[in-house]
Amino acid sequence: MKTILVIDDDVMNLKMATHILENDYNVICAQSGDEGMSVLREKMIDLVLLDLYMPEVSGMEVLREIRQDASIADVKVIILTASGMRADAVEATRLGALDFIKKPFFPTELLERVKKAFQIEKKDRILVVDDDMMNLMLVKKLLGIRYDVVSVSSGAEAIAFLQDQTPDMILLDLHMPEMNGLEVLEKIRSMENLVDIPVIFLTADNERETEAEIFKAGAIDFIQKPFIPEVVIQRISRILELYHYQQSLQLEVDRKTTELRESNRKITNLSTQIMMALAGAIDAKDAYTKGHSTRVASYSRELARRMGKSTQEMNDIYYIGLLHDIGKIGIPDYIINKPGKLTDEEYQMVKDHPKIGAEILENISEMPGISIGANWHHEMYDGSGYPDGLAGDNIPEIARIICVADAYDTMTSKRSYRDILPQDVVKEEIVKGKGTQFDPVIADYMLAMMEEDTNYQMHE
Ligand SMILES: [Fe+2]
Repeated sequence: MKTILVIDDDVMNLKMATHILENDYNVICAQSGDEGMSVLREKMIDLVLLDLYMPEVSGMEVLREIRQDASIADVKVIILTASGMRADAVEATRLGALDFIKKPFFPTELLERVKKAFQIEKKDRILVVDDDMMNLMLVKKLLGIRYDVVSVSSGAEAIAFLQDQTPDMILLDLHMPEMNGLEVLEKIRSMENLVDIPVIFLTADNERETEAEIFKAGAIDFIQKPFIPEVVIQRISRILELYHYQQSLQLEVDRKTTELRESNRKITNLSTQIMMALAGAIDAKDAYTKGHSTRVASYSRELARRMGKSTQEMNDIYYIGLLHDIGKIGIPDYIINKPGKLTDEEYQMVKDHPKIGAEILENISEMPGISIGANWHHEMYDGSGYPDGLAGDNIPEIARIICVADAYDTMTSKRSYRDILPQDVVKEEIVKGKGTQFDPVIADYMLAMMEEDTNYQMHE
């Protein structure tokens, strides 16, 4: 089924057109020129019904933009308009609009005109640039039956034409007064929408240097004058076939890349959101740890940045930090929220949270390192921590980073029995912990971070 894009700022018009066309076609609606352009670039559209008068971007501007974008320049366009201004009709026809439908229209009229538009076989458009009128006429006669030939007699005219039109091919005379063919080509290649357009030189020269020069300038081929009609037609049709094949391939690649990028973005967002939700669930278990996981994650990432880690490593450490306390989910609430001192047995249960967390996270096979933080963030640098009593560099670096960030956030958050600790006290504790609780190097990075935090903003 063919797809029609209707671009109109009037919702009633969109509804009506959809109603009339939807039995025979896929109909997509866009309420503005910008919206219409992005649909055109994302989807395969066979025909555009384009309202001329729209606020912001007018229909004529949309049409011009369509014709300038090589990837969509070929799309069929019918203009919808309430006014019957001749100037509009002339300009739109020049820009390759197939038809005009005056609003309001009858349903049968719209259906008929759309059907007719689909029956029109679109001819490839060839721009011929030659200062010799006889040659122009000859080429037009030769190619006019199969192609839509536009002829101009100077480089300047060609450039003016190409400002808002994208033909499928350019035939360019090499020797012209004022601007010669090579100069014209140089200008053409600098125009964004014409970088890939096939250009064939027409030349009476028979010299090898000219041939080399022509190809070096980026022409796809050259045709010697006087023309041998059959050779001209064959060369042009083969090059055009190849060009369109290449274009549709490129279009397909672009579309797939956009799709892939979009789905990738969604998956990344989804993962982040799930991890944030999990972190929220962890922190919700304890009335006093709201935001703890996200803060530990942020401090860890900042420490990693200062330690010269890559963006990827910084992002990884953020997620690992976010979930470092996930094992608390397995500890009963009454223990986590107990106001008084824990019994030995209760404390033993709290000490299980790293292992519980590691077990939960080990199932995430797409991020193999994600359990590291949960597993070893309570290890101490001198080996006196838990669960495995690892020491020094035997503790994974990520866990050593999270350990510092975790301790910092604990001291700079409120507890039921105390307020946020003063900055100098926290500093002292970090210094005291160097080499015993903390990796001394990472502790120094934390101290540097605190040094810069002159107004003590970095707390809960
Ligand atoms: Fe913990």
